Amino acid sequence: MDALQNILQRVSAPQLTGPDVTAEQLDTLIQAALRAPDHAWLRPSHYISVQGEGRVALGEVFYQATPDREQLSPEKQQKIRNMAMRAPLVLVAVTKIVDHPKVPREELLLSTGAGIQNILSAAWAMGLGAIWRTGDLAYNSGVKQELGLADDEEIVGFIYVGHVNCKLKQPPELSSADFLTSWDGKSE
Ligand SMILES: Cc1cc2nc3c(=O)[nH]c(=O)nc-3n(C[C@H](O)[C@H](O)[C@H](O)COP(=O)(O)O)c2cc1C
Repeated sequence: MDALQNILQRVSAPQLTGPDVTAEQLDTLIQAALRAPDHAWLRPSHYISVQGEGRVALGEVFYQATPDREQLSPEKQQKIRNMAMRAPLVLVAVTKIVDHPKVPREELLLSTGAGIQNILSAAWAMGLGAIWRTGDLAYNSGVKQELGLADDEEIVGFIYVGHVNCKLKQPPELSSADFLTSWDGKSE
């Protein structure tokens, strides 16, 4: 697909199914992520791949990290446990926060965000669907701990990837003029 059309036409896919994302496709997704801008080439991002039975374990981690889980209805409890089953592949996008004289924390997180966008675009280009999700569980210390992350590592997103299993929404047409101003330095 034409590179520009790929960017302009991509939409998120909330419902995803098998077959599994192949090892080659996964490698391409990570290579795309690694082409994200990265100030001082600090390589702050890494990605944890969760597939197959690992998703069942991740669902259990989500459930155990949910506050007041025993008070929830059995249906709601099961829904949380099934969350990681929403796609054949879940990529946990992680930023390692490091001290650097020229690169503030925000830029490290933004770099991972750019990597995630590359993953979404690369998935779309390969005929796959994907969606970036967070929610409270992305910022939950119990989830971080179970995934083996250190205190200086942050989850930037759970990227669900698979084959599109729903009607995709048509994005609204937005006028560039509504989002673009020009500034020439001259006061009015
Ligand atoms: C940082 C971030 C977190 C998000 N978290 C969620 C989420 O938890 N659940 C969800 O349904 N969409 C979430 N979204 C929105 C979807 O990824 C997606 O952008 C949105 O559904 C719009 O679809 P589009 O990408 O086709 O425009 C998040 C987006 C961003 C940038």
